[in-house]
Amino acid sequence: MIPPARWERTGKRRDADPAYRAAVGDRPAVLLRARTDADLDLLHRLAADLDTWEERSPSGPAPLSRAEFDAQLARRDAEGAPETARFVIEADGEAIGGTSLFAFDALARHAEVGIGLVAEARGRGIGTAALELLVEFAFVRRNLRRLHLEAIASNAAAIRSYEKVGFVVEGRQRKHAWVRGRYEDVVRMGLLRREWAARRPSSPA
Ligand SMILES: CC(C)(COP(=O)(O)OP(=O)(O)OC[C@H]1O[C@@H](n2cnc3c(N)ncnc32)[C@H](O)[C@@H]1OP(=O)(O)O)[C@@H](O)C(=O)NCCC(=O)NCCS
Repeated sequence: MIPPARWERTGKRRDADPAYRAAVGDRPAVLLRARTDADLDLLHRLAADLDTWEERSPSGPAPLSRAEFDAQLARRDAEGAPETARFVIEADGEAIGGTSLFAFDALARHAEVGIGLVAEARGRGIGTAALELLVEFAFVRRNLRRLHLEAIASNAAAIRSYEKVGFVVEGRQRKHAWVRGRYEDVVRMGLLRREWAARRPSSPA
């Protein structure tokens, strides 16, 4: 469930700190919110992006029409698919991607993380800011104990972004993925709540 107040990090708190501003510059204001119908064109563009298909999806690449995409969403909404927390990412008031928690394990209290931004929004710190918000949501609002994910080894921006939020490499599956004409390793990463809390004063342990 999306929190009633929008889950946002405008940077205002940290913007007051000159050292922080010197380090990050003028970073866009990033927030996570629920999907609306107005987001569907953007979300379809992201889901259908063949250039980053293998980075984002375990399924084989294929053209994805808007009608198929709408049908997938309708099926997922109607079936009440396994538990997820899916957010649209907004930067400076504009929807630019999505991030989610899925594959929840209620007993062991962990979930998997996914994220994708449209091409023009990448490389501006937005992905890292959105991940910070998602991780905080996972640990504080959902009381999870651990998060995990996998990334193709050549996806330097994703791996760096995850590391900046605190994820560490837990394993490597050699030549596990077929990516645009070659086999690639898959890097598995994880983050424990206690590690995340240790980086932030006054967080739940
Ligand atoms: C992965 C993704 C979410 C990262 O978000 P982003 O906003 O582009 O990343 P950021 O701007 O926050 O950058 C994070 C770090 O990666 C570095 N980085 C960004 N682009 C990079 C690139 N192409 N190569 C190497 N490093 C890169 C940045 O310099 C930054 O590190 P630094 O602060 O030490 O300099 C985004 O690039 C994306 O949506 N990619 C396509 C889909 C995808 O791969 N999803 C992840 C699947 S595992």
